[in-house]
Amino acid sequence: MSMFPAPPDPRRPVDICVGIQWGDEGKGRVVDLLARDYGIIARFGGGDNAGHSIEVGDTKLALHIVPSGVLVEGTKLLIGAGTVVSLRGLADELDTLAKLGVDVSRIVVSSRAHIVFPYHAALDKLLEKQRGGGAIGTTGRGIGPAYVDRVGRLGITFGDLAKPEGLASKIRQALIAREPLFAGADDVPREEDVVAEALAYAERIIPHVVDDVAFLHDAFARGERVLAEGAQGTMLDVTYGTYPFVTSSSTVAGGACTGLGIGPTTVGRVIGVAKAYCTRVGGGPFPSELLDERGERLRAQGREFGVTTGRPRRCGWYDAVAARYAAQLNGLDTIVITKLDVLSGFERVGIVTGYRRGDGTPCGIEGMTDPDLRVEVEEHPGWAENIRGVRRIADLPASARALLDRLAAVTGVPVAAASVGPERSALAV
Ligand code: GDP
Ligand code: IMO
Ligand code: MG
Repeated sequence: MSMFPAPPDPRRPVDICVGIQWGDEGKGRVVDLLARDYGIIARFGGGDNAGHSIEVGDTKLALHIVPSGVLVEGTKLLIGAGTVVSLRGLADELDTLAKLGVDVSRIVVSSRAHIVFPYHAALDKLLEKQRGGGAIGTTGRGIGPAYVDRVGRLGITFGDLAKPEGLASKIRQALIAREPLFAGADDVPREEDVVAEALAYAERIIPHVVDDVAFLHDAFARGERVLAEGAQGTMLDVTYGTYPFVTSSSTVAGGACTGLGIGPTTVGRVIGVAKAYCTRVGGGPFPSELLDERGERLRAQGREFGVTTGRPRRCGWYDAVAARYAAQLNGLDTIVITKLDVLSGFERVGIVTGYRRGDGTPCGIEGMTDPDLRVEVEEHPGWAENIRGVRRIADLPASARALLDRLAAVTGVPVAAASVGPERSALAV
């Protein structure tokens, strides 16, 4: 059974899958599920700040940069031009996958993707320290500074790896430009170490580097379909998210075009992924957050601890105001609701359907940063049953079915499926 309302259009070979909350919606798990219908799975943004978990039988995988279709045989995996990638992170992930018996020659990286160097990570941590109480709570992986270098035209790409002399001089230039920022800091990476490490990884990585534009457009010419995999979530988008508490890339569906070298007319369907509740890691506004024992219970039942940093995730009810905004920003055709099983045992399940300012006036998403913001919560009856074995939405308890209907209605987008466990097969359609 197809999860989608409309069949694929052969003239529009790209579908896009994005998170519509604050990341960790279960994108990895959903992309793994969808991957068999595509020749190529392509990451279009972010770096190893992402953590995507997949469970297939006894195999449990935590991926940070390699696209989530890697456990589906025959798919090709592209790390696109819009990403920023640590050489060590990529090499380690290739090693882990090779040890699992995965053919890693299927994994390629765009020559236009930018390299995250150890000085980016050092700068990320230094800037966070300087922000003090206003810290963003970044993953410390150097993502922000690497994107700053990209737009500042100081960045170094995977294409540069093939030119060792040019690479060394570009690293020198970048470090000279950063010197004032590192003033007084300990543990500043040394130029010779950075160059030596980059050259050591170059040999290993160069065979995976491709011209992504030719790679994708040749695949279209052969009739292959592509699934663009988002990282992070809509509310962490650098432009439309809860700025400045965001990541440094375009996480919305539009980012797939600029991050993969494809035009909007190649895009067919846009699939959003949302948890049946909400989580957020790091600082920043989170109107539906539950600071009481219900939030703790969501964290415990949902195992809400970060894949990348291990930090506890903040937990709250599904935020329909944010979800409607995400439906607009991404042009969603459909959503997959994940972690419905985590709500089993809650007597009442909430959905935030509106915001009000401190003085009581209703407001939309623009009110999110208001320190006195209040939320309107709609309460729904819960269910006691364990639903992990359910495979048809029609077989879910009536109150779980009613909740899914309500989530679709308040978001304004049909629900294609609901996942009821982390394992690949745990899906109700
Ligand atoms: P991503 O960053 O969007 O790929 O999501 P993460 O992998 O960071 O976080 C989602 C977590 O929830 C992972 O540990 C998944 O194994 C787990 N997960 C995904 N779907 C379900 C589900 O339907 N039920 C439960 N209980 N866990 C799920
Ligand atoms: P996936 O792909 C959840 C958050 C960080 C921090 C902010 C900026 O697994 O959904 P950064 O290191 O990107 O500069 O941090 O963004 N963040 C994520 N939160 N899931 C992610 O990725 C995230 N990637 C970044 O916690 O608040
Ligand atoms: Mg994650």
